[in-house]
Amino acid sequence: MTAHSNQVGVLFVCLGNICRSPMAEAVFRHLVQQEGLASYFKIDSAGTGDWHTGKPPHQGTRGILDQYGISYEGMLARQVAEQDFTDFDYVIAMDDSNVSNLNKLMRGTGVKMIKLLDLVADAPNKNVPDPYYTGNFEEVYELVGKGCRALLEHIRRERKEVLA
Ligand code: 4NP
Repeated sequence: MTAHSNQVGVLFVCLGNICRSPMAEAVFRHLVQQEGLASYFKIDSAGTGDWHTGKPPHQGTRGILDQYGISYEGMLARQVAEQDFTDFDYVIAMDDSNVSNLNKLMRGTGVKMIKLLDLVADAPNKNVPDPYYTGNFEEVYELVGKGCRALLEHIRRERKEVLA
C-alpha cells in the first residue's frame, strides 16, 4: 500500500511493535481523526525486531488506550520492511536504538526519520522509555501524546500543500 500523492504516510517504529509504536499509532490516528484530517494520512507502526509478529498490542498498551477511549482495533505487530522506506514519508523512531537499527536498514533511501521526542522542546529525555521493561505505560502515554501533537504541527508546517 503506497501513500496516495495527496496523503502523508507516517510509520511509527519501536523494537517489538507491541508497546510504544502501536500506542503512538493509535494516539496519532485518534488525533488526526479529531482534527478532521484522517483522509490525508496513512498511519501504521512496525518493529525493528520480529519476535511479536502477528500479536496485538501489549496488555499495558491496550489498558491505557482503553482508559482514554482510543481504538487499537485490528492492530497487529509486524517487522519493518524495506518497502516501508518508499511507502511512507516519515519514519518516527521512539529511541536512539531504534534510530541506529533503522539507519542500518534504510541506507540510501530518502525517507525522513525523526525521533519522536526530538519534536518536543521541553522533553528532558528525548527517548521514549520502554514500558516492556519499566512497566510504566502511563508515562509513555503522556510522552507519546506530546510527541504526536508536536508531530502533527511539524507535518502541517512541512506539508502545507496537503494539509492547508
Ligand atoms: P516496544 O517494547 O519496543 O515498545 O514494543 C518491547 C517489546 C518487546 C520486547 C522489547 C521491547 N522484547 O524484547 O520482546
